[in-house]
Amino acid sequence: MMPAVTVVILAAGRGTRMRSATPKLAHDLCGRPLLAWPLAAARAAGAARVVVVIGPGGDLIETIGAAAPAAPAAGGDPSAAAGSGAWGDGVELAVQREPLGTADAVASAAAAIDRDGVVIVLAGDVPLVAPELLRALAEAHEASGAAATMVTARLDDPSGYGRVVRDGEGAFVRVAETKVAGDATEDELAITEVNSGIYAFDGGALLDALAAVGTDNAQAERYLPEVLAILRERGARIATIAASDPAVVLGVNDQVGLAAVRAEAQRRIQERHMLAGVTIVQPATTTIDFGVEIGEDAVIEPCTQLLGATRVGAGATVGPHTTLIDALLGERVSAVHSHLVRCEVRDGASVGPFAYLRPGALLREDSKVGTFVEVKNSDIGAGAKVPHLSYVGDTDLGAQSNLGAGSITANYDGTSKHRTTIGARVHGGVHTSFVAPVTVGDDSWTAAGTVVTGDVPPGALAVARARQRNVEHYGERRAQR
Ligand code: UD1
Ligand code: MG
Repeated sequence: MMPAVTVVILAAGRGTRMRSATPKLAHDLCGRPLLAWPLAAARAAGAARVVVVIGPGGDLIETIGAAAPAAPAAGGDPSAAAGSGAWGDGVELAVQREPLGTADAVASAAAAIDRDGVVIVLAGDVPLVAPELLRALAEAHEASGAAATMVTARLDDPSGYGRVVRDGEGAFVRVAETKVAGDATEDELAITEVNSGIYAFDGGALLDALAAVGTDNAQAERYLPEVLAILRERGARIATIAASDPAVVLGVNDQVGLAAVRAEAQRRIQERHMLAGVTIVQPATTTIDFGVEIGEDAVIEPCTQLLGATRVGAGATVGPHTTLIDALLGERVSAVHSHLVRCEVRDGASVGPFAYLRPGALLREDSKVGTFVEVKNSDIGAGAKVPHLSYVGDTDLGAQSNLGAGSITANYDGTSKHRTTIGARVHGGVHTSFVAPVTVGDDSWTAAGTVVTGDVPPGALAVARARQRNVEHYGERRAQR
């Protein structure tokens, strides 16, 4: 816990190096926006207050609100999956009018900084920052009595980061910036120890030094690390702590950096599931979003994506080549070569190969949706089967019923959608069309090729097709022509 620590997260930069219309910190990283990562770390570390410094437009907050995760669909109700739980809950916002540098960004949050308290400042574009690191930083800062403590790391490729310049005794001198040429000397460019953009400050010392930060540098911006050099010149103590795992300080400045951070985040997410008993057959071709839950002994086959608020039950098999988006899978479910979106598949049911489950599809226990079948906003009863080449939309299919190959529910009359209600233990013949709205009773049958336009009573056989007529000797007559 970090009692009474305020965390300030800097998120008002332009992110020009991303070359994207989307604000940098709204870009997705494994199922949540970049900004959500340091936010979550600050909360998990026990921060008393979290202040996010944003630009004046507010588009970052909008994008992040819109990107909040959808809850998994409760069976049959696609509207239940509307976005909820925005990442910004309980966060205070400060506005930086113009992106004049990281020191200026912190100054924009001055009203939230307590002179007698400790404030931790995080660059919003360093998403893998861990709560443990923040706690260690707060403790080290407390223990050393320094006015400022900076987290540093040694990177094999330090390009773009500020380098930590030390004196002959190894004490901190300043940070040499390297984003553009002109701030660092040749010697300084050879330094591999970088500033992570994560710091702890005594509130009063920070506020006093911020006022003295100028713009005499290659970017004519007010650099936050300048605060540490100013404090040192004034005789205050500056401490540094090294991140034990350099990956947690990786910053995202461009799309290349985002991909590198994503690979690392993905590696960590998958490792967590594997240690909890999940088999991931080919990690390199598997994508699992941050919030996904997977039960023990589930097997994730190659080329599979588990996205959003997806949950996979124990003993399930997913993939190969399967995408689950906000999908809820029970125990022992099998989903092969399929695409599932905002749907629920209960224990023992099987999906695919080559099935498409759309929002509001509910497959009850031990049911089956097979090859080249699309299901939307429908309740497939326990043990029911739709094995081949079918479209089932806006339908209730009773328990143990079986639709023949090529069955189609005609749910749309060109103006509105209508429901099809099919009872239990119904035997649908191949190529049956159900023209909704229509009701088919329990234990009934449909003949192959039937177009069901009227209700079918329980136990009846519906036949609706032209009778067959054979033209005798047709071949001979043709040949004579
Ligand atoms: C910064 C540090 C650098 C460090 C690196 C770690 C400075 C001057 N340099 O460089 O020493 O190695 O982070 O990743 O601080 N921001 C604002 N307002 C602004 C400018 C930036 O809120 O006016 C925010 C950005 O949205 C971003 C963070 O501050 O989240 C860092 O800014 P960025 O431009 O990415 O700094 P770096 O060049 O990465
Ligand atoms: Mg950066």
